[in-house]
Amino acid sequence: MGQSRAFSRREFARWAASVGVVTEAALAQRSMPGGPPPPDAVMINANENPLGPCAEALEAMAGALKRGGRYSFFEPMELRRLMSEQEGVGLDHVQVFAGSSDPLHRVVLAFCGPGRSYVTADPAYESGDGPAEFRGAAIHRVPLTKEYAHDVREMLKRAGEAAGVFYVCNPNNPTGTLTPREEIEYLVANKPAGSVVLVDEAYIHFSGAQSCVDMVAAGKDVVVLKTFSKIYGMAGLRSGVAMGRPDLLAKIAPYATMFLPCTGLAGAIASLKAKGVVAERRRYLKEVREDVFSWMTGEGYRFVPSVSNKFMVDVGRPGREVMAAMAKEKVYIGRSWPSWPQHVRVSIGTREEMELFKGAFARVMG
Ligand SMILES: Cc1ncc(COP(=O)(O)O)c(C=O)c1O
Repeated sequence: MGQSRAFSRREFARWAASVGVVTEAALAQRSMPGGPPPPDAVMINANENPLGPCAEALEAMAGALKRGGRYSFFEPMELRRLMSEQEGVGLDHVQVFAGSSDPLHRVVLAFCGPGRSYVTADPAYESGDGPAEFRGAAIHRVPLTKEYAHDVREMLKRAGEAAGVFYVCNPNNPTGTLTPREEIEYLVANKPAGSVVLVDEAYIHFSGAQSCVDMVAAGKDVVVLKTFSKIYGMAGLRSGVAMGRPDLLAKIAPYATMFLPCTGLAGAIASLKAKGVVAERRRYLKEVREDVFSWMTGEGYRFVPSVSNKFMVDVGRPGREVMAAMAKEKVYIGRSWPSWPQHVRVSIGTREEMELFKGAFARVMG
């Protein structure tokens, strides 16, 4: 019996009651200063896409609302079919979820445990920490390299033979920086047997970098996560995908609900069918990001150059203070990480929102 099976129903109930699936929304809310933001606040604290769903998705979801009294029998299969076709992996290599935080948790639950550690970067998206702790797995947080990539060699060294999951977020949250493809290949080729490399591609569309889905198609011990929350602007609508070899997906199946709202399904299917959405959005958000970067450079602020929809700024004092001062200006920015306490994360909003950000940031930084 594999370790994952040793995770009993009773333990699962305990987990469900005590850990829950931690999403970016929960992490952003937990660190939000003060009470609820005013309705006219600029919200650039949770890496959301200010453009929201594309026109095709909106239309499809409006149609889906009328069918909301019914369960979705066929749409999950249609979403799987489209993903499998577009990503070039077999249908049995694709599973759909209500967002990608959900399968992220389940992969950690299934593959980590005592003697099978969770190996992640620092700073990184923290969502996998809770299930790793719950399973009694050691957590190795390995600082990013000087180029802000995952230090895969150090990750391998720290884990030794006792690794369960190597989590690689590409581009990384919060830094918005890429790990070179060869480094991920090195990790996959040199990781201990029985472990998996979990490649989180929530933000890959913003960067235009090559996906690791081909490693899934090649039968490697790799699970790739995709979400409709970011480039497709559907964070509140909940759709995501895990891609992996059928035997790997089978390990997370016992913990999966796989139940998506009919709106999330319809919006995801329409988004995949829509033409030009990814390229247009990538271009727009890149333009806004580059404008903010050239302003920050001109003003002498220090930031980590990002290829994603968020970036880290060095504020030279406790990040929490800056978050609170920005909130007073009605601009809600993202959190700091314990290992980078003087950096705050800023998500890319619309052009207009980033103008408000610039004004507020200049006042706060004095
Ligand atoms: C790195 C990373 N992975 C996955 C997600 C998944 O989000 P969702 O559950 O909305 O798909 C997020 C959200 O911010 C994220 O930052």
